[in-house]
This record gives sequence, C-alpha cells and structure tokens, in this order.
Amino acid sequence: MEKKDLLYEGKAKILYLTEDQDMLVQVFKDDLTAFNGTKKGRFQGKGGICNALSTFFFEYLENYHVPTHFQKSLSENEMLVRRLEMIPVEVVVRNIATATLAKTYNLEEGKVLPYPIIEFFLKDDRLGDPMINEHHAYALGHATPEEMRMITRVASKVNAILKAFLDRRGLLLVDFKLEFGKSGKDILIGDEITPDTCRIWDKKTNKKMDKDRFRYDMGGVDKVYKELLDRVLNQ
Ligand code: ATP
Ligand code: TYD
Repeated sequence: MEKKDLLYEGKAKILYLTEDQDMLVQVFKDDLTAFNGTKKGRFQGKGGICNALSTFFFEYLENYHVPTHFQKSLSENEMLVRRLEMIPVEVVVRNIATATLAKTYNLEEGKVLPYPIIEFFLKDDRLGDPMINEHHAYALGHATPEEMRMITRVASKVNAILKAFLDRRGLLLVDFKLEFGKSGKDILIGDEITPDTCRIWDKKTNKKMDKDRFRYDMGGVDKVYKELLDRVLNQ
C-alpha cells in the first residue's frame, strides 16, 4: 500500500495516510530522543531494528489473540497499521524496580517485584506526562471504566507473554510502555514495542539492552539494539 499525505510526525515515528482510510503507514526513524525530547541522538539502522522488533512482538502477540494495530511489514523501516483513535494514556508495566520506582519507594535497584505494577501517565508533553490513575482517565474523559479494565487486562497479558518469551532468550523484561487506541468498538494496542519503550536486561549480567544506554550516556546503544534484535530473532 502506498504512502499518501503525512498525518503526523513524532519524535521517533512518522504516520502517513494511505488510499484506505482505515490504514496508515508507520515509519520508524533513526532518531533517538529522551527526557521529553530535550535530549536528541540517532544512529543509522535504528529505525529498521525498531520496525523489525515491533513487527516480531506484534505478530507474536497476535498468536496469543492480543489485538494490535499491526497489519503487515512493508519495508525495512515501515509497517502497515490500522488507524486508531488513540487514548492519550501511557500504560507502564514494571516487573523489576529501577529508576523512578526504585527512588520513589526506596527499593533496591534490580529488586524483582512480587507482583507487577501497572501505572498510567497522561500523554501530554506540555504537562510533562503526569502520572494518573484510572479515575483520572474516566473523569478527564479519556476512557470508560470498562475500557480501562480491558486495557489493564491486556497489559497484564502482554507482560506475561513477553516476559516468558524474553526469559527464554536469556533476557529480563524490566518494564515497558504500551499505548492503546480505538477502532470502532475495538481497543487495540498501537504505537510500538521496542527497546525505546521497554527496559530489557541480560539475565546473567544485568547488561542494559535498551534506551537507558542513550538516556544515561552509557554508550553502545547501537550495539545493544543490534544484539537484542539478533537474540529475539534467535539468529
Ligand atoms: P512520544 O515519544 O511521547 O510517544 P511522539 O508523538 O513524538 O510522542 P512518535 O512515536 O514519534 O511519538 O509518534 C507516533 C505517534 O503516533 C504517537 O503520538 C502515537 O500515539 C501515534 N500512533 C501510534 N499508533 C497509531 C495508530 N495506529 N493510529 C493513530 N495514531 C497512532
Ligand atoms: P518511566 O515511567 O518513564 O519511568 P522512569 O521514570 O523510571 O524512567 O518508564 C518506564 C518504562 O516505560 C520504560 O521502559 C520506558 C517506558 N516509557 C516510555 O517508553 N514512554 C513513556 O512516555 C513512559 C511514561 C514510559
């Protein structure tokens, strides 16, 4: 399917309209950003890696009947997705304490949580993406109680599926973020599942295999993204 007009250009991706009003082309850029876009970087091939990893995870989740916007891969850095009316809530699932969670609750860095924690953030860059709970989501008119229940259920299921999958690849799923959107009455996962939006550590060494290497100037972000793709695809 061919790209038509630009619909939206974000920090990491571009969405184009297509001849089918229900379908979009999602293009992954080589750009890396952090801290609400204030820190910028890029490496060649990053878009291709993120497209390949998102494609893999979305297809893997569809096997478990988790509904996503993914339709098909179009090229190295482009996928066809269903156009969604996005719900402006970022849904974060955490399995291991790190960063803000560890600091806020004085938890040991790397502590495995006995239960996953699900957090919601309002997706609004101007407000700095404040944390909200499901009651804010209803009261601000972003989702109904039923939709939030469904979103929570799906996020938990995705966590169980991806955590088990990555464990078999010798990797820990520390935390990740999902975005959801509506297509008619259906609620689907949109956006991406990549090391930009997940924290993934090597199980044996705790080596960080995600965007934290860029956020915290640890170096080698390009190398770990490539290694992650290889390990996920089991090459
Ligand atoms: P952030 O980095 O905070 O997510 P952004 O807008 O810069 O913000 P990008 O990932 O570059 O993020 O842009 C992709 C945009 O497209 C996001 O706003 C996302 O919510 C939206 N989006 C993702 N999937 C779909 C979809 N299927 N239909 C419509 N919009 C979508
Ligand atoms: P975040 O909630 O920003 O936590 P911290 O302040 O501890 O870094 O991030 C938790 C996980 O969710 C991390 O893997 C990154 C991902 N995430 C995003 O990718 N985008 C977001 O807007 C948010 C809130 C989280």
